[in-house]
Amino acid sequence: MTRKVKIYGAGSIGNHLAQACRRIGWWVTIVDPDMEALRRTREEIYPARYGKWDNSIRLSHPDDALKDCFDVIFLGTPPHIRIDLAIEALKELPKILLLEKPLCSPSMEKTNELIKKLRQYPTMTVVGYDHVLSKATKTAEKLIEEKDFGRVLSLDVEFRETWKGIFSAHPWLSGPEDTYLGFWEKGGGASGEHSHALNLWQHFTHFLGLGKVREVSAIMKMVETDKVCYDESCFLNLTTEMGFVGRVAQDVITEPVKKQVRIQFAKGFLEILINGFEKRDVVYFQDAKSSGEIRIEKKRPDDFYEEILHIEEILKHRILANESPISLRRGLNTMRVIKAAHESRQMKKTIEIDYRQ
Ligand SMILES: NC(=O)c1ccc[n+]([C@@H]2O[C@H](COP(=O)([O-])OP(=O)(O)OC[C@H]3O[C@@H](n4cnc5c(N)ncnc54)[C@H](O)[C@@H]3O)[C@@H](O)[C@H]2O)c1
Repeated sequence: MTRKVKIYGAGSIGNHLAQACRRIGWWVTIVDPDMEALRRTREEIYPARYGKWDNSIRLSHPDDALKDCFDVIFLGTPPHIRIDLAIEALKELPKILLLEKPLCSPSMEKTNELIKKLRQYPTMTVVGYDHVLSKATKTAEKLIEEKDFGRVLSLDVEFRETWKGIFSAHPWLSGPEDTYLGFWEKGGGASGEHSHALNLWQHFTHFLGLGKVREVSAIMKMVETDKVCYDESCFLNLTTEMGFVGRVAQDVITEPVKKQVRIQFAKGFLEILINGFEKRDVVYFQDAKSSGEIRIEKKRPDDFYEEILHIEEILKHRILANESPISLRRGLNTMRVIKAAHESRQMKKTIEIDYRQ
């Protein structure tokens, strides 16, 4: 079925989402108040990434685009303006509203207002933590179900990657000071930008039945100048409500990139290396009886295609949005940990998360 979608933000993620939606045959409109961003999308980003521009994609200023007729609205804008935009976008009555990651700025201002508003609308809401939907994550889940790993002993997730790549892909930016990336309070820095790692940690603790994060102890290396204020490294020690402990490391300085999930069990281990072998994801495992490695052929755009396939399943009511691995609840829980992490850094103490707030 051909769906109609609108993407707010003609930046890096806007282009990825547009391409993934076109791949499934959906009609795409991209809106951005910056006409130069729309021009770059048509003439530079999209053709450079995917071979050529797709003339069926409509590019528009937000004020000129149609309203009230989209199946899905994607908010691929900077995090600190996302909640206000989400509240506005609800008035367009999309069936699904996807808010990119990180959900918002660490203050989590207005998230309660958004949650209240959502009760008045039929819209289902999800958050763009696409790594939890990847083939590598699904392969790891299948292995956990089928193999004899025994008890879980530890879980470590790392997303360590210099953001030089981001700035070479955004040559119109001179550095983090020109965007939200240079400001932790806007959802930038390692804690926000690489929060896929934290979200994957929460995903696997959920999958393994280990409960939600209860306590957060964080240390961060901050970069503070007259132009920027962000964390370049963010290390989180986490304890769940079941007393399980583990660790997340995120930074914007490591090169070459290192992105991995490592689960130690009593009878073996499981490891996902993202881009681990010639840009493929690799899942290594060893259990009581066997060991092996599974290489997953894919490029980064394929992850977004998986996400769009998942959204189609939600639209067809084969998956309930609030039970999805990318549900708003899960995205909010990731944001709660990021917020607690900054409090922990500032107060130099362990912070307990209150899920009633
Ligand atoms: N899921 C992923 O793997 C993934 C990948 C890349 C980026 N992201 C996330 O997506 C968000 C955007 O990142 P990016 O790299 O695309 O940023 P970007 O700076 O490349 O693009 C953001 C665009 O949003 C536009 N914008 C600002 N206000 C707007 C508004 N009111 N309406 C419409 N457009 C508006 C800006 O003009 C800009 O063109 C960030 O939160 C980032 O973390 C997620």
